[in-house]
Amino acid sequence: MSAAATVLPSMDPAAAEELAREAAAWCALHGLVVGDRADPRSGTVPGVGLVHAPFSLLPAHLPEPIWRQACELAPIFNDLVDRVSLDGNFLQESLSKTKQVDDFTSRLLEIHRKMMEINKEENIRLGLFRSDYMLDSETSSLLQIELNTISASFPGLGCLVSELHRTLISQYGYLSSLEHKRVPENAASSQFAEALARAWAEFNVDSAVVMMIVQPEERNMYDQYWLTKHMQESYGVTTIRKTLSQVEAVGQVLPDGTLLVDGKKVAVVYYRAGYAPNDYPSEAEWRARLLIEQSSAVKCPSISYHLVGTKKIQQELAKPNVLERFVEDKEEIVKLRKCFAGLWSLDDEEIVKTAIEKPELFVLKPQREGGGNNIYGLELRETLIRLQKEGGDALAAYILMQRIFPKASPAYLVRGGICHEGLVISELGIYGAYLRNKDKVVINDQCGYLMRTKVSSSDEGGVAAGFAVLDSLYLTDK
Ligand SMILES: Nc1ncnc2c1ncn2[C@@H]1O[C@H](COP(=O)(O)OP(=O)(O)O)[C@@H](O)[C@H]1O
Ligand SMILES: [Mg+2]
Repeated sequence: MSAAATVLPSMDPAAAEELAREAAAWCALHGLVVGDRADPRSGTVPGVGLVHAPFSLLPAHLPEPIWRQACELAPIFNDLVDRVSLDGNFLQESLSKTKQVDDFTSRLLEIHRKMMEINKEENIRLGLFRSDYMLDSETSSLLQIELNTISASFPGLGCLVSELHRTLISQYGYLSSLEHKRVPENAASSQFAEALARAWAEFNVDSAVVMMIVQPEERNMYDQYWLTKHMQESYGVTTIRKTLSQVEAVGQVLPDGTLLVDGKKVAVVYYRAGYAPNDYPSEAEWRARLLIEQSSAVKCPSISYHLVGTKKIQQELAKPNVLERFVEDKEEIVKLRKCFAGLWSLDDEEIVKTAIEKPELFVLKPQREGGGNNIYGLELRETLIRLQKEGGDALAAYILMQRIFPKASPAYLVRGGICHEGLVISELGIYGAYLRNKDKVVINDQCGYLMRTKVSSSDEGGVAAGFAVLDSLYLTDK
């Protein structure tokens, strides 16, 4: 690649507006779409009320060495999750205080404990993960935000954004200084589908299906349908979609462990719901989660994999000498530790004091997923002071994290057909797939990526939550 094309051209608003229209049309033609909030049926009826997914007009810059570093970490994290998941006592002990004060974590741990009691073994283990990073501007280092082990979203739509950006660069004269090859190809969608299909093949029951656990209303359903399509077309594997409450109503586990739903044998349960308290509005959903866990179906993720992805475990793994319990290879330990930001539990009085003094340097995180839950700035200070006053274990519901400050740059973001210019920062997600059957590792791969970009003044990052847009990346030499 030549060095000349590493800088994205600045664009005047009229040109951006024109390009945005072309791009939005491309989205409609290629299924880069989500349900439109404005249409009440868009979350329940497929094909109704679609709007292009929010996207960034041009890809975000990323130095190539950083890109390679992030890709190289994927199989190491995959392996780490699997290792940690096998140490049930470590998970229970690390989360024991959180359990006292966080009802949701406590319910997950309860299921996990039951599985430990019956010595439940998962021979076929499937993980579809996404490790999220930001590039810290001060140190130019890649730092991990979190590792998602359940419901990692946008493998379906994310790769379409890479294709959109490649297309715009190749076809649009204004961008002729750019090289489309600097936008890495992204096969997250087909690779995730492949991992699900190979887990299905390991399960080895021809008539069995993959069951996707979904929310009753899901505007991000097309992201999910992309995987369904690939599984059907490339592997002949059928997917059924069920909510947890439907599973409770029509599901059963036979004496031999087979999970039957609507009379169909289930080979793989793929959770695109079940990661947040809202997904369990009644006891029925918890009964469904337990039923699935007790069955012999492959769970993506199992309760153990789910727990490894909690923020508390992320913080525990960052403590001195903990990685060493799970990873033998010293070089891998160095690579992992290099991407760990500062992470602290709130038993550390010194750090709580510092965070109260300088809240702008920290993020306070509860044990939640899905965006919109973190606490920043003055609210962080007030929350810490209040929790300290309350005393007891209240602090154990949270962890503190070093705040990462990526470099902001100008960009055009397109949402609902409107193009906005703003100063933005980006978060890189690298997908990983891990599949093993007993001692045989079937897949341990990096599987494409997701860039999410948001205006730099916003603290949170979720696309579905309305904070960020989908993006891809443009590799620069440095
Ligand atoms: N340490 C951090 N520094 C800066 N921003 C952060 C940090 N941690 C999280 N964020 C922002 O908050 C968003 C949500 O945090 P995250 O840990 O990913 O929780 P969730 O499980 O809700 O996605 C991230 O996408 C990112 O934009
Ligand atoms: Mg996140």
